[in-house]
Amino acid sequence: MNEVAILTSPNSPLTLRKLPIPRPSAYELLIKVSLIGINAIEAKIAKRGTPPPPSYPFIPGSSYTGTIEAVGTHVTEYQIGDRVLISKRFGTQGNEYGAYQRYVLVTAEEKMVVRLPERMNKDEEAALVALIMNASCVAGLFSGRLGLRKPGDEVQEGEEREKILIYGGSSSFGRLAVQYLRCAGYDVITTSSPQHMGTVRELSGSGSHVVDHTLPPDQIIVELRVRGPYDVVVDMISTRQTIPLASRILASQGGGRLFATQPAFSLGHLSEGVARVFEPWSDSLYEEGNEGLMEWVVGTYLPFGMEKGWMSAQEIEMVKGLESVDGILGRMVEGYGGGKRFVVELGR
Ligand SMILES: NC(=O)c1ccc[n+]([C@@H]2O[C@H](COP(=O)([O-])OP(=O)(O)OC[C@H]3O[C@@H](n4cnc5c(N)ncnc54)[C@H](OP(=O)(O)O)[C@@H]3O)[C@@H](O)[C@H]2O)c1
Repeated sequence: MNEVAILTSPNSPLTLRKLPIPRPSAYELLIKVSLIGINAIEAKIAKRGTPPPPSYPFIPGSSYTGTIEAVGTHVTEYQIGDRVLISKRFGTQGNEYGAYQRYVLVTAEEKMVVRLPERMNKDEEAALVALIMNASCVAGLFSGRLGLRKPGDEVQEGEEREKILIYGGSSSFGRLAVQYLRCAGYDVITTSSPQHMGTVRELSGSGSHVVDHTLPPDQIIVELRVRGPYDVVVDMISTRQTIPLASRILASQGGGRLFATQPAFSLGHLSEGVARVFEPWSDSLYEEGNEGLMEWVVGTYLPFGMEKGWMSAQEIEMVKGLESVDGILGRMVEGYGGGKRFVVELGR
């Protein structure tokens, strides 16, 4: 039998159920899940109902590693026993594709199926599954959508050094972003609490500056403005507190696009001349023209980015079993766990 963690109605806790193991169709793979990476959006769906799931009952989860247990009759490029790391494409419909279960289906042509290097141990696998969603979004936003260089690309002679503001550099998305941009040769100005300042400084490199985001808002704005103007401004946090602040910095340099990680909550928080831009940032990787970038993300950045120094593991709290997930989601929406990622271990 399959074991699943399911949301049966709004505000209900995740419930454990036994269901039949799904069968892969001709073009699908059946994965026996080993590790599940928990993402911020899953806590919001489960504990706040925003964004709401497509329908109830709903099996959340996007990021997982596992072993291919069965392959559809038309699948040629994968074999039973292969070890894979998967990030479900944003918007994929169907509970059989949600990660919070022992057996998950994925279409073999799903682009974000990463083959795990054979030598990878459990800790390295956990570090990756914890970051795959945010890391693919970093590549999608900066290189897929904005056309910026990626780590390893050469800076052409005469190419100007662009300056990028990452508001919220101590979030997971933010840390990955500052390191990606630094390795691609950009100047990064970012923010952190005093607690994570050292780590964020190290990730963003010597040409960077990190401002304490616990200072009063007016002081943060002054500190960030003097280091501008910025070619790109991203608010990694995108809440009612941060959007007006990032928006004021953009307005002070004449306005422009404010790249956000959450959809708009209401009008009226943006300064004049500022447009908020939001989308699931990995989407661009699936678009025509970005095939090579997607290949690099799946074949190089994700499996080998840590050893190349392009991404760094975050502190991880490992928990055992699907029964632990509901408590983790509760802690995440209450703000606990800053600077930490949660990974659920189901065993092989
Ligand atoms: N659109 C997309 O494609 C996409 C993709 C992935 C994630 N997201 C969204 O992006 C957001 C960040 O995700 P994540 O996984 O990076 O979250 P996370 O790591 O859990 O972020 C928590 C950290 O954010 C920092 N933070 C919290 N409030 C802040 C504030 N007011 N100002 C500055 N920093 C603050 C804190 O750093 P300190 O501990 O230093 O205070 C905290 O540790 C989430 O809303 C997530 O849903 C969007």
